[in-house]
Amino acid sequence: MEQRIIIQGGNVLCGRVEVSGAKNAALPIMAASLLTDGPCDITNVPDLVDIRTFSTLLQRLGVSVMGREADKLCLQAQTLSSCEAPYELVKTMRASVLVLGPLVARYGQARVSLPGGCAIGVRPIDQHLMGMRALGADIELDNGYVRARARRLRGAHIRFKAPTVTGTENLMMAAALADGRSRLYPAAREPEIVALAEVLNQMGGKVRGAGTDTIDIEGVAALQPFQYAIIPDRIEAGTFAVAAAITGGQVEVAGCRPEHLTAVVQLLRQAGAQVEAADRSLHVARQQPLRALNFATAPYPGVPTDMQAQMMALLALARGTSSIHETVFENRLMHVAELRRMGARINVRRNVATVEGEPGLCGADVMATDLRASACLVIAGLAAQGRTVISQVYHLDRGYEQIEAKLAALGAQIWRQG
Ligand code: UD1
Repeated sequence: MEQRIIIQGGNVLCGRVEVSGAKNAALPIMAASLLTDGPCDITNVPDLVDIRTFSTLLQRLGVSVMGREADKLCLQAQTLSSCEAPYELVKTMRASVLVLGPLVARYGQARVSLPGGCAIGVRPIDQHLMGMRALGADIELDNGYVRARARRLRGAHIRFKAPTVTGTENLMMAAALADGRSRLYPAAREPEIVALAEVLNQMGGKVRGAGTDTIDIEGVAALQPFQYAIIPDRIEAGTFAVAAAITGGQVEVAGCRPEHLTAVVQLLRQAGAQVEAADRSLHVARQQPLRALNFATAPYPGVPTDMQAQMMALLALARGTSSIHETVFENRLMHVAELRRMGARINVRRNVATVEGEPGLCGADVMATDLRASACLVIAGLAAQGRTVISQVYHLDRGYEQIEAKLAALGAQIWRQG
């Protein structure tokens, strides 16, 4: 039977919740293990479906994946048995494309399935391919696959049409082993990019400027193994902060990096929550009614598109009219239809959602359509009156470690069936 999450809404969340390692930092860092033949130790790895899918992909390539004990992974790419990322894995997880840069850089070739469309939009990889071509790779498309070859990549100035997170990561890894200097501009500035740069530098790479829009990389002949603890998941932290605010609770979101959440904290305060940032935690509480606000998603350090759906659930209960402009993806408002089933009043015109705040939401049977849309429905269910039943929860399991257990420990009535 298909699994569902059931929430009996109306409980106020109180207590302390610990944030897991960031999936979006772990995936490129796992891919970086392809750049060296030695054993790479990664800790604080979240136990998520996407991490397991990526481990399977690395194993198919011939990487030995050892010690999935607690939050540790040891990856060693001594010799590879294949350079192919097959369709059946790439279609379930677009981030599989992160093996392209490292494979070509170290092994001179890769065959990676094109990801195709996904629930939140077309999401092409043309910028990854443009960058690989600029680094001297020969790229061909055959039967839905990208075939890339290069005897040795050579440094280049790569100009993206707009910042891309995994595109920047792929090309940083490729350029790290290229011959000569590369510049990536405008590079994505997300904390996950900075984390990958730290790993590459620990490996003996020469990467400067990560966290700004210009990343300079001086290629080296070989890279060494690394040991790295994955940074906390800023989107999971933001999701718990919104959950605390929507229920009018009082929660310590522990083990996060408040400096990675500046835009989200600002929105929560504007919406009427009190948010105190400490060194490695956020304290979120709310006594006042929620207030409407307007925001647009943007690349880091702007409001993350990965927090848009959760913020929408919050604003569905705010006094007044809010406007939410999704600027990063073209089709990322599918949770609107599900929120409407819970009584939210939301209209969509192109990529702008206008939310007329309601005093209450009611529980309903709803369907998760993508990872963050699922989190939005969980948040709405926590605040709604009555029972919410969320189907297609496998989306949630891709990106949230033990979300029911963590929310239940804060006082939510939430459980899984099936
Ligand atoms: C990453 C995150 C994802 C997040 C997104 C935006 C990972 C594993 N995933 O996805 O959670 O929602 O950043 O913060 O880190 N684009 C192109 N051509 C390309 C690449 C991207 O047109 O070659 C477009 C995309 O369609 C999108 C925009 O650029 O409209 C940004 O996408 P990008 O930053 O690449 O997202 P991902 O790296 O796939």
